[in-house]
Amino acid sequence: MEQVLYLVLLILFTLCSVSDGTHFRGGIISWRPLNSTVQGTTTQILLHQRYFWWRMYAGFPPPLCTEADVVAGTPITVGGAVLYCLQNCSSSNYPPGGIAANMITSDCDTNSLIESWGGELYTTLTMPLTTSITIGYSGSQWLTALYIGGSGSWSIVNRMNLAPRPDSYINSSPVTTTLPVVMYPRGVPVVHIVQMADNDATDTLQCRWGTTNSGTNYNRNDECANVCMGIPSPYTLTGSNCTLTFTLPKASIYYACALQIEDYYSTSSPYPMSSVPIQFLFYAYNISAGACATAPSIIGVRPNRACIGVPYNVQLNETVEIQTYCPGQTIVDLVTSSPYGMQHSKISNPSPGLWIMTLTWTPLATQSGPQGFCAGAIDNSSLQSAPWCITYLVGYDSPNLIRPTLVQGSASPIGTVFSNQSLFSIQATSAVGRPSLNNTNICFHYDSTNATVFCYDAGYSPNVIYTGYTIVIVTNYTWTPGQSYYVTLGDGFASGSVFCHAESLAITDKTFWRFDIWNPALSSTTTTTTTPPTTHTVTSLGTTTTSINTACTTSGIVVTSTNASTTTTTVTTTTPTTAGPTTAGPTTTGATTESTIPVFYPLDFENACKQPVAIMSAITIVFFMPVHALAMYAAFTKFTNMYKPSNIAAKTRHKQRMQNILRR
Ligand SMILES: *[C@@H]1O[C@H](CO)[C@@H](O)[C@H](O)[C@H]1NC(C)=O
Ligand SMILES: *[C@@H]1O[C@H](CO)[C@@H](O)[C@H](O)[C@H]1NC(C)=O
Ligand SMILES: *[C@@H]1O[C@H](CO)[C@@H](O)[C@H](O)[C@H]1NC(C)=O
Ligand SMILES: *[C@@H]1O[C@H](CO)[C@@H](O)[C@H](O)[C@H]1NC(C)=O
Ligand SMILES: *[C@@H]1O[C@H](CO)[C@@H](O)[C@H](O)[C@H]1NC(C)=O
Ligand SMILES: *[C@@H]1O[C@H](CO)[C@@H](O)[C@H](O)[C@H]1NC(C)=O
Ligand SMILES: *[C@@H]1O[C@H](CO)[C@@H](O)[C@H](O)[C@H]1NC(C)=O
Ligand SMILES: *[C@@H]1O[C@H](CO)[C@@H](O)[C@H](O)[C@H]1NC(C)=O
Ligand SMILES: *[C@@H]1O[C@H](CO)[C@@H](O)[C@H](O)[C@H]1NC(C)=O
Ligand SMILES: *[C@@H]1O[C@H](CO)[C@@H](O)[C@H](O)[C@H]1NC(C)=O
Ligand SMILES: *[C@@H]1O[C@H](CO)[C@@H](O)[C@H](O)[C@H]1NC(C)=O
Repeated sequence: MEQVLYLVLLILFTLCSVSDGTHFRGGIISWRPLNSTVQGTTTQILLHQRYFWWRMYAGFPPPLCTEADVVAGTPITVGGAVLYCLQNCSSSNYPPGGIAANMITSDCDTNSLIESWGGELYTTLTMPLTTSITIGYSGSQWLTALYIGGSGSWSIVNRMNLAPRPDSYINSSPVTTTLPVVMYPRGVPVVHIVQMADNDATDTLQCRWGTTNSGTNYNRNDECANVCMGIPSPYTLTGSNCTLTFTLPKASIYYACALQIEDYYSTSSPYPMSSVPIQFLFYAYNISAGACATAPSIIGVRPNRACIGVPYNVQLNETVEIQTYCPGQTIVDLVTSSPYGMQHSKISNPSPGLWIMTLTWTPLATQSGPQGFCAGAIDNSSLQSAPWCITYLVGYDSPNLIRPTLVQGSASPIGTVFSNQSLFSIQATSAVGRPSLNNTNICFHYDSTNATVFCYDAGYSPNVIYTGYTIVIVTNYTWTPGQSYYVTLGDGFASGSVFCHAESLAITDKTFWRFDIWNPALSSTTTTTTTPPTTHTVTSLGTTTTSINTACTTSGIVVTSTNASTTTTTVTTTTPTTAGPTTAGPTTTGATTESTIPVFYPLDFENACKQPVAIMSAITIVFFMPVHALAMYAAFTKFTNMYKPSNIAAKTRHKQRMQNILRR
C-alpha cells in the first residue's frame, strides 16, 4: 500500500517537473550519527545533501544566482525536490512523504563555461537502529550538454544502515567532496582522484561505478539512471583509492561521472555498511593556440588536503592564492564547492602572476563536524588548476603548539645551551601525530640574519619524533658559540588525532622559540650578576634548593627568557601547580605571576648547571613539577638515552610510522 503511494507521488512529481527543463548537475548524499554510542533503540542522524544545478535555468524563483544569494542563503527551490525512502522502508520511520531537497545556496558560479549553482542542506532525523534503507532523489532533467545521458533522468541514492557495527558503534557514512565541474583538455589521458574519507578511521573504503541494475547493487535501486557510465571507454577505476583514468574524446561538452563510495568494516567484510553517491561533471576543451604551457596552480596559503580545526561562531578568514606562469595568463574564475555561509571575494591580482580570493565564513554550531571546501582556478585559456580541497573540522580545536616560557611551560631548550645541544622538544595542547603531507618544515634560523641554518620535513624526517603531547627534534648540528638562533614551524607541524587529523597553525614569529649558544670564551672574564631573583629560590646557584629551580631547564640549561641576552628581563611565568604524578593528561595551569629573573652570565651558567638536572632531585620533581613537565622530563631522559650517539632507533620508528601513514 505504502509503495503504491510512493509510486503515485513519484509519478505526480515527475509530471510536475517535466516542464522544468534540463538542470541537474550532480550531488552528494551522506550522513552520520550525532553520537555514535548506542543509547536505547533510536539515534539522531545528521543527513547531508549537496546538489549542483544549472544556473541559467530560469525556473528558480530568483533566476540566475549571484554571490548575493550565497550571502543571503537563498533556498534553491526546485519543483518537487524531495528525498524519498526507496527500498526496505518498513525497517524505519523515515518520513513517508520524504524530506525536502531544496538546498541553501553555497556557491554560485557565473563563469560562462561553468554556470553552476550549488547548495547544501543538513537535516536531523531521529531513527530506530533497525533502519536499513535506501534513500534517494530522482528526476528527469539531467543537463542537456552531456556526452552521454544528456536531458535524461537522474537518480542519486544512498544506503543508510544504523545497525550497530561489529565494534558496537553506530556507523558513519564515508564523506567526499568535489568541484561541480572539473575541466580537462580533450584527447589527453587524465588521472583524476576523487577524495574519500571516513569518520570511522579503521573502515576500508572502496569506490565503484554507480549501476542501473537494482537487482544486484547494494542499494537495490537504480543508482544513476541515464548517466551510469557517463564517461566513454576506455577508462579504469581503482576502487581502493578512487582513482579514475580516462580520455575525454570531444571538446566543449560535459561528461557525467556517477560513483558510489562504500565503507567496509574490514577488508574481509562481504558487504559495505553504507553507500554514498557522488555525481559531478567533467568538461573537455580544446587547448587554444595561445594557451600557457602550464595550468595555473593554487599554491596555498595552506597545503592541498589540509585539515584545520575551527571553532564555531568565530569568523574564519582564509586566503586562496593562485599562481599563473605566463605573461597575459589571467585567472577568470575560481570554481568552488563550499560550506553554506562561506563568502567569496572577487579575485584580485596584487602582483604579477599572483591571484587572490578571500573566503570569510562564520561556522554555525549546526555545522559542527567535517566541512569540505574545494576550489579550482580557471585561466583565460580554460586551463583549470588541480583541485585544492580543505577540510574544516568545525567545533574541534586544532592542536596548538604552546609558546615556550620556562621549561615547565612547554618547550626545551630555551635560554643558553651548549653548542652540542641536539635534543629539542615542544609541547602541543592535545595529543599529536606526524602530518600526513610532506613539506611541513621545522627550521632553525640565525637570529641575526634570519638565514635558515637547516630544516627538517616533519612529513617524513626521522629527526622529528611525535610522542603523545610532545614532539622531540633530534639534530646533528654543531651550533656556533655566541650565536642566537630561533625556530619556525610550518602549518600542520603537529596533527591532531581526530578524523582528518586537524593541524596546528604555523609559527613564524622569531620570538616564539629562541635560544643562545654558550660561548666558553666569555666565561672567565665576566662577573656574575648580583641581582637576586625575587620569586624563585635560586639565590645560591649550584646548591640544592628545596623549591623548583625555574632557572634551570630539564636539560640543565639556564633560562634568560625567550629573548636573547638582556640585563634584566621581566617574564611571565606560570607557577606550577602541585598536581599529583598519577594525573593523566595535561595539567591545569596555576596562577600566572610576573617576576623579575636575573640574567645569567656565562660564569653563572657554568656554575649553575654544570650537572644537568642535578638541581632538581627526583623528589622535587615529583612534588613540584606539573604533570606535563614530568612527561617531558621523562621524554628527555628517554630520548637522551635513545639518541646518543646515533639515531638508529629513530629511523626504525620512522619506518613503522610511514607504514602506518601509507596504510591509512
Ligand atoms: C555520546 O553519548 C555517550 C553516552 O551518553 C556520552 O558518554 C558521550 O559523551 C557522548 N558523546 C558525544 C560526542 O556527545
Ligand atoms: C531489502 O529489500 C529487498 C527487496 O527489495 C530484499 O531482498 C532485501 O533482503 C531487503 N534487505 C533488508 C536488509 O531488509
Ligand atoms: C591507486 O592504486 C593503484 C593500485 O594500487 C596504484 O597503481 C595507483 O598509483 C594509486 N593511485 C594513487 C593516486 O595513489
Ligand atoms: C577540437 O579540436 C578537434 C581536433 O582539432 C576538432 O576536431 C574539434 O572540432 C574541436 N572542437 C571544438 C569545440 O573546437
Ligand atoms: C577575520 O577578519 C575579521 C574582520 O577583519 C576579524 O574581525 C576577525 O577577527 C578575523 N578572524 C580571525 C580568525 O583572524
Ligand atoms: C590569455 O592568456 C595567454 C597566455 O596564457 C595570453 O597570451 C593571452 O593574451 C590571454 N588572452 C587574453 C584575451 O587576455
Ligand atoms: C656537550 O658539551 C658539554 C661541555 O663541553 C659537555 O659537558 C657535554 O657532555 C656534551 N654533551 C654531549 C651530549 O656531548
Ligand atoms: C615524502 O617524501 C619522502 C622523501 O622524499 C618520500 O619517501 C615520501 O613518499 C613522501 N611522502 C608523501 C606522502 O608524499
Ligand atoms: C628578520 O625578520 C624580522 C621579521 O621577521 C625583520 O623585522 C628583520 O628586519 C629581519 N632581519 C634581517 C636581518 O633581515
Ligand atoms: C645529519 O646527518 C646526516 C648524515 O648522517 C646529514 O646528511 C645531514 O645533513 C645532517 N644534518 C645536519 C642538520 O647537519
Ligand atoms: C622580547 O623583546 C621585545 C623587544 O625587546 C619585547 O617587546 C618582548 O616582549 C620580549 N619578549 C619576551 C617573551 O620577553
